[in-house]
Amino acid sequence: MIVHCDKCAGRGIIVQDGVAEPCPCIKQRVINAKIKASQIPPKFSQYTFDRFNLGYYSRTMLDPEKRISHREIAASTLAAAKNFVHSYLKNNHTGGLLLTGPVGSGKTFLACCIANALLAQNKTLLFVVVPDLLDQIRATYDAARQKTVTESELLDTAREVPLLILDDLGAHNYTDWTRNKIFTIINYRLNYLLPTIITSNINLEDLEEYLGERTTSRIFEMCRPYRLLVDVDIRMQMAKSGF
Ligand SMILES: Nc1ncnc2c1ncn2[C@@H]1O[C@H](COP(=O)(O)OP(=O)(O)O)[C@@H](O)[C@H]1O
Ligand SMILES: [Mg+2]
Ligand SMILES: [Zn+2]
Repeated sequence: MIVHCDKCAGRGIIVQDGVAEPCPCIKQRVINAKIKASQIPPKFSQYTFDRFNLGYYSRTMLDPEKRISHREIAASTLAAAKNFVHSYLKNNHTGGLLLTGPVGSGKTFLACCIANALLAQNKTLLFVVVPDLLDQIRATYDAARQKTVTESELLDTAREVPLLILDDLGAHNYTDWTRNKIFTIINYRLNYLLPTIITSNINLEDLEEYLGERTTSRIFEMCRPYRLLVDVDIRMQMAKSGF
């Protein structure tokens, strides 16, 4: 994202009465660099709290266990996400969130709302799509490929970034190898009190089956679980309403 600035014509400094001063647009450039480094796909940059529409969550369908409506669940999950932003701005070692729910229930949207709100506040974070990360790590093993990045670089970035969004820690075919990679990230972040926002379509009770006990117990230690429930995939709802 290039900043077009009328004040400094993109130079970053303004000369006034022979004195050079940094242009206010510098701040925006720093933020833009952080947006780029966060690896949030451009489409997801538009996912902001003010666009999070509660209208997609049914007011009449109830969560069979809690006897509250999908709308009420979404409202409390939205509140938890906003609350995370406030807490994180005060203390960057605050606890993370685990957002679960079916496909198309707004998990990625909400995780991006958090990310975008914090990026606007000049925070550093990384958005990682779990299957993509695992693919990237696998690709570093491929001898025929030119190496631009090593496995440990990929893992270290995810381990050490102040805030990590692990998107789509979903119901994939996990092997011991993939479980181990995820474990090293989660374990490091727990030990260094680094918050993580996780989105997953796995039910809480099935998490252990997919990820193993040691990762699951650490996730529960570092993230508060919230759900988003929809009776119809929001993508379908949008398609129907002609969005
Ligand atoms: N609360 C919401 N308000 C507006 N649009 C939403 C909302 N939740 C999801 N969407 C839209 O629905 C689609 C699916 O949402 P997404 O967050 O990717 O679902 P999930 O990650 O749960 O599979 C996206 O195009 C997103 O823009
Ligand atoms: Mg998603
Ligand atoms: Zn400028």
